[in-house]
Amino acid sequence: MKNILPIILLASLTISCTTKQNNSDKTMNHIDHLLSQMTLKEKIAQLNLITALDDYNNPLENVEDKVRNGEVGHILKSNGVKNNFYLQKIAIEESRLGIPIMFQEDVIHGYKTAFPGPLAEAASWNLERIEQTAAAAAKEATASGIQLTYAPMVDITRDPRWGRIVEGAGEDPYLGSLIAKARVKGFQGDNLADSSTLMACAKHFLGYGDAMAGIDYNIGDFSERELREIYLPPFKAAIESGVGSMMVAYSAIDGVPATANKWLMQDLLRDELGFDGIVISDWRTVSNLVKTGVATNNKDATHQAIEAGLDIDMVSELYVQNLEELVNEGKVDIKLIDKAVRRVLKAKTDLGLFDDPYVYFDSVREKKWVMHPSHLELSRKAARESMVLLKNARLSGQEKHLLPLSKSVNSIAVIGPLATRQKDLLSWWAANHSQADKNDVVSLLHGIKAAVSSSTKVTYTEGIILEGFEKKGLELIPAAIKAAKQADVVILALGEEYWMSGEGGSISDITLPGAQPELVEALAQTGKPVVAVLINGRPFDIRKTVESFDAVLEAWQPGTMGGYAIADILFGDFNPCGKLPVTFPQNTGQIPIFYNIKRGSHDFEGIDLKDRYKNNYLDITHKPLFPFGFGLSYTTFEYSNLRVNTDTDIPTVGIKVTNSGKVDGFEVVQLYIKDIVTQVATPHKQLKGFERIFLKAGESKVVTFNITDDKLSYIGKELKPLIEAGEFEIMVGGNSEELLKVVYIRK
Ligand code: BGC
Repeated sequence: MKNILPIILLASLTISCTTKQNNSDKTMNHIDHLLSQMTLKEKIAQLNLITALDDYNNPLENVEDKVRNGEVGHILKSNGVKNNFYLQKIAIEESRLGIPIMFQEDVIHGYKTAFPGPLAEAASWNLERIEQTAAAAAKEATASGIQLTYAPMVDITRDPRWGRIVEGAGEDPYLGSLIAKARVKGFQGDNLADSSTLMACAKHFLGYGDAMAGIDYNIGDFSERELREIYLPPFKAAIESGVGSMMVAYSAIDGVPATANKWLMQDLLRDELGFDGIVISDWRTVSNLVKTGVATNNKDATHQAIEAGLDIDMVSELYVQNLEELVNEGKVDIKLIDKAVRRVLKAKTDLGLFDDPYVYFDSVREKKWVMHPSHLELSRKAARESMVLLKNARLSGQEKHLLPLSKSVNSIAVIGPLATRQKDLLSWWAANHSQADKNDVVSLLHGIKAAVSSSTKVTYTEGIILEGFEKKGLELIPAAIKAAKQADVVILALGEEYWMSGEGGSISDITLPGAQPELVEALAQTGKPVVAVLINGRPFDIRKTVESFDAVLEAWQPGTMGGYAIADILFGDFNPCGKLPVTFPQNTGQIPIFYNIKRGSHDFEGIDLKDRYKNNYLDITHKPLFPFGFGLSYTTFEYSNLRVNTDTDIPTVGIKVTNSGKVDGFEVVQLYIKDIVTQVATPHKQLKGFERIFLKAGESKVVTFNITDDKLSYIGKELKPLIEAGEFEIMVGGNSEELLKVVYIRK
């Protein structure tokens, strides 16, 4: 008999969902029983994750045979009910033990319905929405034959040159941790055995975001203090939320690549953090150990990885090639392999794959949920909540600001190549890994045309050619100037092509690519009101754009419904409320720049050429272009009455927030704390709480935060969390720079 547990083989691809049950005793017995039947080869197969497509997404041919021969436990880049049902059927019916395959994929910001990229979504500070988009992505992906997603990416980074900044939640460990939790919760739901939830995978453990000089795959070098203060918290949060798996980083800790790092995977991850899920390598990181020069050959690399605690080898297929020999030679203890296999079998059991290996292959469900209208609506909501209004000047001599625009304006000149692009509105994974179809994406021009009145004349001019970094299409600028001059208002799309950020998307200069700076300069001369809409994955040096134009909207890479979402904001159907999850530098030279910098020995303010002994540059302000937490609204919020209350068991801080403008709106009220005297240098301020509130025009609300000990603790000299008595500066406001302050004394 091929199968250990009875399974119902379904003849057609139209298989209805069955309810799966999870019983932990039964699980353990079943795993023991299964393990006792497995040969060493079959065990190693469970640690082998192969890909159905190569590095450049070309199909590989021998996948089927590997499944048939029982050499594979997991497959990535194989999607769709039809494909995966077919492969699963081979695994179940033709391999000796019929152990189901686990299909894994990068479902990072949606599946076929693309949501805004993760950095963009972080700008919403809307944890509930973030959980919803992850849950919707899970619903689509599981309906399409996938069980595990390589998300959330929880790497903190402070370098916009690094293309993968687009995949994370920005620069702050506190916000990053809450978003990590929301995403894990969204993907996994309450029960992994539910066939519409995905197992999540927090990545990349650890410190990948520190890539030196912003170059992807560069090994960074940071202290254990920085590891614990900055990079670790979101992983901890993911573990607290029950994340089922972890992916190790391409990078190294203290020179030891994560894939071969026992301290990282055993001491820190398993022993200290208590993680008991599966640990997966990144793409060929086992074979990369040879490249890095820490392993003499592939066999040595295999030996180091398994000894260090790596369960699953992604794509290099070195475990299948070398582990058996290493065990037979007595170099690797079989117990180590058994432990890893147990974790894998447990994960497959948790996902319900032993109860019904076909439960994820339901073509009816696939048809129903992929691109479901409710997901498209969710995508639009998430996109507009993530957009950040960076500038909205008053029209000269008027009370009115440039935005929102009237839908019945006479004429609009839409300019810029990105205004008609579809794929570039998708963030890296959806675009490059072709889950989402670019033809489903609503372009900016389409969104604008759909929003305005029938009498509004909308013209479109490319302005320049955006194809890579080269300056192209300068000869198109005069036509753009002419179009601008003939219109009442200009909507100018600026930014980057989708492939410029994302993996391997490192850039050395964050000015707008191609001839866009020239286009900005030319349109600035027209004197016309211009709304600049930025479509990009990472912060850019947009000083010139901000200086030149009256309104600037950071729309990011907003996903499938991008064009509609941007138009919702431009024409006032939605009041912008996003806040930057990352600092926008003035220029490339300011990088790394982040709000929670530690206090140094000198003052940190002003440019005064007569007083050079400051913690500043001489040629530029130390301030960013836009600080962390910043974002405007069509209304204004006033903060007053900041008070600490120590009469309660847990002290609280309260602040009155008033919507002092004329329209209703959301505001993200942010709490920052500074411990005034600490054993080691600590930041000027750190985000320790926030609340996203809705206030009607004229309405006020008192927002209260508990000052719990965890908000006051820091990592002391001994690298352990510490809470001390003394003075703390409590700061509350609408961004990390404009804050009201009060001192709290902890006895
Ligand atoms: C990336 C991972 C990704 C994996 C599989 C790697 O190159 O670093 O984040 O999950 O490929 O696609």
